[in-house]
Amino acid sequence: MKKLILAAMLVAFTLTAVYASDVVTYENSKGNVTFNHKEHGEKLGCEACHAGEPAKIEIDKEAAHGDACKSCHKDKGGPTKCNDCHKK
Ligand code: HEC
Ligand code: HEC
Ligand code: HEC
Repeated sequence: MKKLILAAMLVAFTLTAVYASDVVTYENSKGNVTFNHKEHGEKLGCEACHAGEPAKIEIDKEAAHGDACKSCHKDKGGPTKCNDCHKK
């Protein structure tokens, strides 16, 4: 039984490493922003945001309000109002 649990944990760990974080929360003063990475990936495909091999993308205020998040929302009908992204 212990071995089974260990094996399951190993598989879970490996999957997390490959598929990255399912949900990322950006904490900030305006209200936290929850980015559902998995859902975005499934709907849009990895190439929508990652060029080549997917890797960490730095998100700061400027990126988020521009190309990294909001520009695509304007084009494709995602949330663009402050409180649609920032939740207190
Ligand atoms: C809507 C844009 C978007 C899409 C689509 C997307 N990603 Fe990401 N990805 C990001 C952002 C933003 C980060 C940085 C997250 C953070 O701040 O940790 C990231 C980070 C990553 C990382 C680095 C590890 C990590 O968790 O930071 C990997 C690996 C990754 N993505 C893989 C994928 C794969 C595989 C897909 C397709 C199934 C995908 N991404 C689809 C935006 C996206
Ligand atoms: C390439 C296009 C694209 C990019 C880049 C993108 N999004 Fe989205 N996002 C969408 C679309 C399209 C929807 C609407 C999905 C729906 O309603 O089915 C959406 C929905 C959302 C939602 C509301 C639904 C939910 O998941 O809770 C939030 C919040 C969100 N995005 C945050 C972000 C953040 C934060 C970033 C940047 C780190 C980002 N998005 C980058 C296309 C994008
Ligand atoms: C598409 C989602 C989205 C929308 C729409 C959006 N923001 Fe943001 N905002 C973010 C993300 C993501 C960050 C980066 C958070 C981080 O750096 O940790 C951010 C950062 C910020 C910051 C910096 C906070 C800090 O503590 O550094 C402020 C202030 C802010 N936004 C205000 C606004 C206002 C005002 C609006 C409406 C005019 C707005 N945002 C609309 C996603 C969004």
